[in-house]
Amino acid sequence: MNQCVAAFDGDPAVEPQAFRNCLGQFATGVTVVTANIGDELVGLTVNSFASVSLSPPLILWSIGESSTSFAKFSGAANFAINVLAEDQILLSRHFGKSGGDKFSTVPWTKGKNGAPILDGVAAFFECGTESQHRGGDHLIVVGRVWRAVQFERNALLFAQGRYRIASDHPGDQITRVAS
Ligand SMILES: Cc1cc2nc3c(=O)[nH]c(=O)nc-3n(C[C@H](O)[C@H](O)[C@H](O)COP(=O)(O)O)c2cc1C
Repeated sequence: MNQCVAAFDGDPAVEPQAFRNCLGQFATGVTVVTANIGDELVGLTVNSFASVSLSPPLILWSIGESSTSFAKFSGAANFAINVLAEDQILLSRHFGKSGGDKFSTVPWTKGKNGAPILDGVAAFFECGTESQHRGGDHLIVVGRVWRAVQFERNALLFAQGRYRIASDHPGDQITRVAS
């Protein structure tokens, strides 16, 4: 294979935007993390969600300390991860805005731990906060999943700073047969 010319090769501390672009090469899904704290509902769009462990069932996500819901989530015993479906870009944008009442204009129901479950998602996870870890300007939240629900819907994706839709890779079948 030919050696490719790097679009960026440098120190992320000096060039944060180039660092963001590098990170954007890693495609993710899009989630809305929600919680109900003393009857106040909080939620924000999150793509730092990742699976951690199957046994015990653990996931993680991280929240920036500039987020207005930072203190609420830092003290939350429970939360829900809503995995957005491919037709939920507007919901992602809605929960990506800072502060205010985000729940009066979107359809949702209360999960078993009280955290809002958004209508039409591809999956959701109800979690208890297992541990929290400082990571630079973010707090990494590890959650223990006690309820996982999947729907027959395709997930919304995010890569290279843009929303994407998943489609089957034509090479997938070929390599499956070959290997
Ligand atoms: C696709 C996408 C992914 C995001 N991922 C995260 C994330 O993982 N962690 C985070 O703290 N903010 C993330 N954000 C930004 C927050 O959603 C945004 O700062 C929001 O306004 C915070 O809401 P709040 O101030 O009401 O808490 C993301 C935004 C978008 C659009």
